[in-house]
Amino acid sequence: MTDLILPGLIDVHTHLRVPGGEHKEDFATGTAAALAGGVTMVLGMPNTNPPLTTPQAMQTALDAARRDSRCDVGLYAGASSADSYLLPQIAANAVALKIYLNDTFGKLRVDDVPTLAACFETWPRHKLIAMHAEKQSVAVGIGLAAAYDRHVHFCHISRREEIELIAKAKERGLPVTCEVTPHHLLMDVSDYERMGVWADMRPVLGTPDDVAALWEHLNSTVDCVATDHAPHTSAEKRSATPPPGVAGLETALPLMLTAVAEEKLSLDRVIELMHTNPRRIFNLPEQPDTRVEFTLQPTTIRNETMFSKCGWTPFAGREVAGYVSRVILRGTTVYENGIVSAEPGSGHLIPTSS
Ligand code: DOR
Ligand code: ZN
Ligand code: ZN
Repeated sequence: MTDLILPGLIDVHTHLRVPGGEHKEDFATGTAAALAGGVTMVLGMPNTNPPLTTPQAMQTALDAARRDSRCDVGLYAGASSADSYLLPQIAANAVALKIYLNDTFGKLRVDDVPTLAACFETWPRHKLIAMHAEKQSVAVGIGLAAAYDRHVHFCHISRREEIELIAKAKERGLPVTCEVTPHHLLMDVSDYERMGVWADMRPVLGTPDDVAALWEHLNSTVDCVATDHAPHTSAEKRSATPPPGVAGLETALPLMLTAVAEEKLSLDRVIELMHTNPRRIFNLPEQPDTRVEFTLQPTTIRNETMFSKCGWTPFAGREVAGYVSRVILRGTTVYENGIVSAEPGSGHLIPTSS
């Protein structure tokens, strides 16, 4: 019984951990998790080890992606002060540039104006600049978008003050867009108090008022829902220095369609937020003959069925409205009833123009 048919989803915010974090995830496991979640195209983040700030690191990641990916993959280049002179060289192989303005997992971070200026002056104008910006850093990103008259995309916006600032910037006609994650829509600080490190991520979970603000803006200011799939092993989470981040690829669609069943948003809006807008904003190619079949039958999210190498999700035990029953990518069934049949290497690298 198939109840809903959707286009292949695009996740513009995925951590695939190659190179350097292959024990957490790799292209084969991360893209299997994507397909199991109805996601047929992912954009991989550059906070790897080493980070994707040099042509060599970018080449290592691209070679692994070409060899191992089961769905389509594009990569972000990363911005850093030391390597900013290399941006013109790595641009040719990247879909977009990521600038971290706040602390998070890994060392990538920009906190000086000359590096920000170099990014905005040398990164090709036809490619997007995305930012991890929290609190007043959102104002920095909006200021740069205005000063350079170029598009800035804000990742995982999580607070009322941030989404309201972005709404004001949009009202003024400034070229900004933003994404929110399912965990910031569906969890709040009380979940962190209950679950501790298992619900720790950057940005941290918001107050109930922050969560309410994201829902208030979901039909207007918000452009995309992205997972921020950030797998870390259970052992790392239990360690003395637990890294922030949670997996998200396999749970995003069931959670968002549960919100549709609860009449919190429409199915058409989910398709805009997870397919149409990501494709338009990041200028991504179409995937012909590609669709996701979703069966509406109450199901409980479980750690045991996950394809992500980390093997756990903060949503385990949550009841959702249904499950992804089949995914067809370019005319071939790549996932059906718990089995990923796409081979490593069958996914395409998203072409990047220089
Ligand atoms: O919680 C997070 N984890 N936030 C980020 O920005 C990075 C991510 C990661 O790479 O683990
Ligand atoms: Zn981030
Ligand atoms: Zn992230």
